[in-house]
Amino acid sequence: MELKVGQAKRLEGTITVPGDKSISHRALLLGSLAHGETVIENFLQGKDCLATLRCLRQLGVKIEEEGEGRLRVEGRGLGNLQEPEEVLDAGNSGTTMRLLLGVLAGNPIFAVLTGDASLRRRPMDRVTLPLKLMGAEIWGRQEGKLAPLAIRGQRKLRPLEYTSPVASAQVKSAVLLAGLYAEGETSVTEPALSRDHTERMLGYFGVPVKREGLTVRLKGRALLQGRPVRVPGDFSAAAFFLAAAAILPEGRVTVREVGLNPTRTGFLEVLEAMGARLSVEVTGEWAGEPVGNVTVESSALRGVEIGGEIIPRLIDEIPVLTVVAACAAGKTVIRGAEELRYKESDRLATMAQELGRLGAKVEVLPDGLIIHGGYPLQGSRVQSHGDHRVAMAMAVAGLVAEGETIIEGAEAIDVSFPNFPTLLATLTEEARGK
Ligand code: S3P
Repeated sequence: MELKVGQAKRLEGTITVPGDKSISHRALLLGSLAHGETVIENFLQGKDCLATLRCLRQLGVKIEEEGEGRLRVEGRGLGNLQEPEEVLDAGNSGTTMRLLLGVLAGNPIFAVLTGDASLRRRPMDRVTLPLKLMGAEIWGRQEGKLAPLAIRGQRKLRPLEYTSPVASAQVKSAVLLAGLYAEGETSVTEPALSRDHTERMLGYFGVPVKREGLTVRLKGRALLQGRPVRVPGDFSAAAFFLAAAAILPEGRVTVREVGLNPTRTGFLEVLEAMGARLSVEVTGEWAGEPVGNVTVESSALRGVEIGGEIIPRLIDEIPVLTVVAACAAGKTVIRGAEELRYKESDRLATMAQELGRLGAKVEVLPDGLIIHGGYPLQGSRVQSHGDHRVAMAMAVAGLVAEGETIIEGAEAIDVSFPNFPTLLATLTEEARGK
């Protein structure tokens, strides 16, 4: 599918965005392991979360769809998943594969997991390694590094004190989920704080998770109690519209009921440092997650230097941040972001290449990017590389570029934000009509 985006001067409106991808996955997974029912509202019906839903059904979990974004999950309790008859297909979703491996490690069944070509290239040893230390048997291509993977879990796992070499919420979550099946305390220490949705939702389901600095711990064999979960809007989806508002000459976008978990909102800190006019209002808490409204207005932006602990807190926003930086005055330097090479595409390479096609000046570093902002962008044909966030970031760039930008492979957007093209068209048309 091609997505065509014309230059727009103006983008205005108040919107909500679909439910958070990370939280939707976790609500399904924890709901499946809990006692009693979990009703999920505002579940993200993107391909990634639907892959988790399908896999859990194959594992014997009863999940009913009761309407637009409303699911009823009948929890099976810990250790009661059924052996799947067929291969589990995680599609494009790293979260599905890695978190499910953590859960499967504690169930005495055999399962095979695979995914699409992109997922089969992504490193799985970062989770298979600690899970093997806990007692799971796992086989895969390149000595367990790549999917397809086969796993045989154990009824009882060994607790683990794990120091993760990467700041990854997927690694942390896989180990914590496996830790639920271990007798004793399991801990994960990460080099910088990654998104903490698993810890928060475990707490919400009644499992105490202790945090000391960069270490989180839980005691295994605790009971999870099913609870209603209303999923906040996805901050990473909102970021595309917030970015667009900041860089267009007449932009003003408010996103309501969006998740404002500080482990996810590093992008707002960077926008602010670049000189963006923005306001944030926390209005409540949904299932242990802060929720509120964010407004961003058209702003004169300047380049910044970022790196260090903020990187995991804005990791999924770096593609669109690259676009913002291309529209800012001066140089932006992003360092310490080598993790981007292991996402749905090598996002350092793909963003530099595709933004370059529009005339942006982007240099690739081993662990980041240097963006020389302020060069005029010219509409062109660009590629998504099968990566939803690259596709949407390029659509935002297309709003600024003169003429028309055509994004090839735009169907990748369905992974996390199926109504993105419609919402973008609505906001730009409404603004044009004014
Ligand atoms: C996610 C964690 C992040 C993020 C991904 C979702 C999660 O990946 O990029 O989109 O839901 O835990 P890593 O844990 O690999 O950094």
